[in-house]
Amino acid sequence: MTTSAAPGHAAAETTESSEPSKVEAPNASVLEHEYDGIREYDNPLPGWWVYTFWASFVFSVGYLFHFHVSGNGESVAEAYETDMASAREERAKQAHGQKVTEEGLAQLSQDPALMADAQAIFGQRCVMCHGARGEGGIGPNLTDGSFIHGSGSLLDIYATVSNGVPAKGMPAWSLQLTPMQVSELAALVGTFQGKNLPGKAPEGTPMNAR
Ligand code: HEC
Repeated sequence: MTTSAAPGHAAAETTESSEPSKVEAPNASVLEHEYDGIREYDNPLPGWWVYTFWASFVFSVGYLFHFHVSGNGESVAEAYETDMASAREERAKQAHGQKVTEEGLAQLSQDPALMADAQAIFGQRCVMCHGARGEGGIGPNLTDGSFIHGSGSLLDIYATVSNGVPAKGMPAWSLQLTPMQVSELAALVGTFQGKNLPGKAPEGTPMNAR
C-alpha cells in the first residue's frame, strides 16, 4: 500500500497553525478517508499474492479435514510411535532367534515397551472374547492359572494362540498376525498369570496341579 504524504510537511511542523496543503489525487483510485492530510491509494494486492492466499486457505481446509476430522492422517508423533514399535519388534526378533523357545518367550515378557505393544494388539484382537485385562468373557479367563490347552507354559500358550481352537471359536492367530506378534502375545498372556482377576470361572486344569 502506498501512502501519499502531503508536501510541506516540514512547514507544518514549524508553523502549527498553517494547514498542510491538500494533495489532489492523480487518478480516481484514492480512498475516501484522510488523516492529517494523508490519503491512501487503493492499490490492489498483486495477483500472485492473492492466489497464494486462496490456495493456502483451500489447502488448510483439506489439511484440517485430513488430520483433525477424518482421523486418517497420521501425526508426526504417531508415525514416530509406529516406527519405534517396528524397531522394537525387529530388535526382539533378533534377541528371540529363529526358534521359539520357553526362554526366548520369557525374555520378551521382560521388555516393558514390547509388552505395551503386545497389550495394544491384545486390545484390538483379543479383548472382545477375553476381556480388557484377560479376565475372560466368551473366551476363558487368562489370568487364573488354569488352562484347557497345554500345561500353561509359554510354549503351550504360544501353540494355542498360533493354532487357535477353531472348533470352539478361538481363531488361529498365525493366519492374521506375524510370528513375532504371536510370540509377544504368548509372552503377554504369561504375564497375566497369578493375577487371578475376577471374571470367568477357571476352566481346565490349574497349572500347579500338573
Ligand atoms: C472370537 C473369540 C476369541 C478371540 C477374538 C480370541 N480368543 Fe482366545 N479363546 C477363545 C475361546 C472360546 C477359547 C477356549 C477354547 C476352548 O474352549 O477350547 C480361547 C482360548 C484361548 C487360550 C487358551 C486358554 C486355555 O485355557 O487353554 C489362549 C491362551 C487364548 N485364547 C489367547 C487369545 C489371544 C492372545 C487372543 C488375541 C490374539 C485371543 N485369544 C482371541 C476365544 C477367542
